[in-house]
Amino acid sequence: MNKEFKRTEYCGELNIDDVGRQVVLNGWVNRRRDHGGLIFVDLRDRTGIVQLVFDPKHNNDSFELAQQLKNEWVIGIKGKINKRPEGSENLKIPTGEIEILVDKLTVFSRSNILPFNVNEEEDVDEYTRLRYRFLDLRRPRLQKNIELRHRVSQIVRKYLSDSGFWEVETPMLTRSTPEGARDYLVPSRVHKGKFYALPQSPQLFKQMLMVSGIDRYFQIARCFRDEDLRADRQPEFTQIDLEASFIDEEDIFSIVEGLMYSIFKGALDIELTLPFPRMSYREAYTRFGTDRPDIRYDTELYDVSDVLNKISFPPFQDKEVIAIRVSSRGNITRKGIDELTDSARALGAKGLAWLSLQDEPRGPFSKFLNGHILDRLKTITNSDKGDLLLFIADEPGIARVTMGRFRLEINRRFFQPNTQYAFLWIVDFPLFSFNKDENRIEAEHHPFTSPKDEDIYLLETEPLKVRANAYDLVLNGVELGSGSIRNSDPEMQKRVFSILGIDEADAYKKFGFLLEALSYGAPPHGGMALGLDRIVAIMAGEESIREVLAFPKTQNAFCPLTEAPSDVDENQLKELGISIRKEEVL
Ligand code: AMO
Ligand code: AMP
Repeated sequence: MNKEFKRTEYCGELNIDDVGRQVVLNGWVNRRRDHGGLIFVDLRDRTGIVQLVFDPKHNNDSFELAQQLKNEWVIGIKGKINKRPEGSENLKIPTGEIEILVDKLTVFSRSNILPFNVNEEEDVDEYTRLRYRFLDLRRPRLQKNIELRHRVSQIVRKYLSDSGFWEVETPMLTRSTPEGARDYLVPSRVHKGKFYALPQSPQLFKQMLMVSGIDRYFQIARCFRDEDLRADRQPEFTQIDLEASFIDEEDIFSIVEGLMYSIFKGALDIELTLPFPRMSYREAYTRFGTDRPDIRYDTELYDVSDVLNKISFPPFQDKEVIAIRVSSRGNITRKGIDELTDSARALGAKGLAWLSLQDEPRGPFSKFLNGHILDRLKTITNSDKGDLLLFIADEPGIARVTMGRFRLEINRRFFQPNTQYAFLWIVDFPLFSFNKDENRIEAEHHPFTSPKDEDIYLLETEPLKVRANAYDLVLNGVELGSGSIRNSDPEMQKRVFSILGIDEADAYKKFGFLLEALSYGAPPHGGMALGLDRIVAIMAGEESIREVLAFPKTQNAFCPLTEAPSDVDENQLKELGISIRKEEVL
């Protein structure tokens, strides 16, 4: 690089106090405007934009070269910082009171015409954005997100290190761990016919580190899961993963609360209120129909089955009937109801009934109500004249979960959030859940989670009633993280495996190394993993974690930029002892 044009500062950091100084700036041409015999160029780097002025009377060579400049050319300039003439200030940008009168210009490189503009927010389809991600990332919004992510990572490292956690890397090429998704497999050349699995999380390694006496571990860990993708799911994502010994749930709560406090204070200058509220899994389902309630809103679900099963309205017969109150919106129109019904159906409801509490209640089942039933309904739903109630009826459990999803839509349409960030611990998870499709018991969190002492007696007889030492952290209705206190006793670990249908031989085959490790003196231990992508996305106000990843994949796990996954050479396959079954590919 030409030494003469070695940058002395960044564009966006200059201001009125710098007037009179000589500077050298490097960056991209954000926009060029010619008028009044002068050329104005907005020069951009990652800190922002500053206005350059090329005046033929000041330096004609530079002026002539500047006439050629096009968007996204990379240039260097030398010049002097001047105050902008009265009336030409732009108070929208931090450098808006100044401009640089250019003495000398050099062009480092030219740019082809861009597939989309990066100097303004325009709607570009996501495939194109990802295809040209290196350009997409030039946009200020994404640069801000990437910077935020960097800052959050640095805060995490500092906070955890200051709290006695050691950062330890664990293998990427490893064995399958049972986090519940499909594994990404990597074939081995040396051991033909065998495969590594990319880790779904460092779970087993972090537990073994506790056996090793590392005491407190953390890692900003890349995890890989082949699962259906959504706005908050990517095939590879990052966890803030931690594990500690000789601790209980309370220790994990305060470590993680302190961590979140530091992150929000350090990166956004927001002071979170600690401790975060807690709610049991059961209460969360009862009141909100989900284990990750968005408690920025007060709306709740009310079970009115007992009252409404008694009336002779066919949709409610023998069904679970769940109500939600939409305060003071009693006078909703027919069209409004139809729209709500459509969105409830889109979320899986079989129908939506309503009751408008006027002098005379109105709604599809109002004629079946008497004064007594109406009073009970009002009491249960905490509602009164002027309110609108909405009802979903379905099989037990289904109506509640469906209404839980519909509640989010109701919140969006009718209510303002009470607060910007609502953290919530969900505690007392069940240890197991029942998978109806496969007719078997599964681990609700993962198989290494320990049962609550007081429920151990139920393990073999009523496993679904056993509660776990497991917890989730929820923010604004998003599951930020999960963790648990583990089975440090190998006998208890074997008991849990056996209830999951993993017999001893199977357990040794799959997790023998863990069981063995636990048998050599394992400290009581537990931990948690927080989704870094999700934390940063919420902090950045983004709907999708793709906006806070430098190089994300599309919804179907494809990278339009590198075109991964891709075909490989026949030779590579041969070396690995692999042949592709053509009928599977077509
Ligand atoms: P779990 O499987 O709940 O727990 O994952 C922890 C957190 O990781 C994030 N996360 C994801 N983020 C983006 N894309 C994905 N596909 C994805 N999957 C998970 C979520 C989630 O809460 N080993 C245990 C933790 C422990 O017990 O310590 C584990 O991985 O924010
Ligand atoms: P239908 O018999 O489908 O025309 O429905 C008659 C009324 O009952 C309409 O107001 C429906 O929205 C309501 N309804 C039907 N099924 C359900 C259901 N599963 N939950 C709540 N309301 C329902």
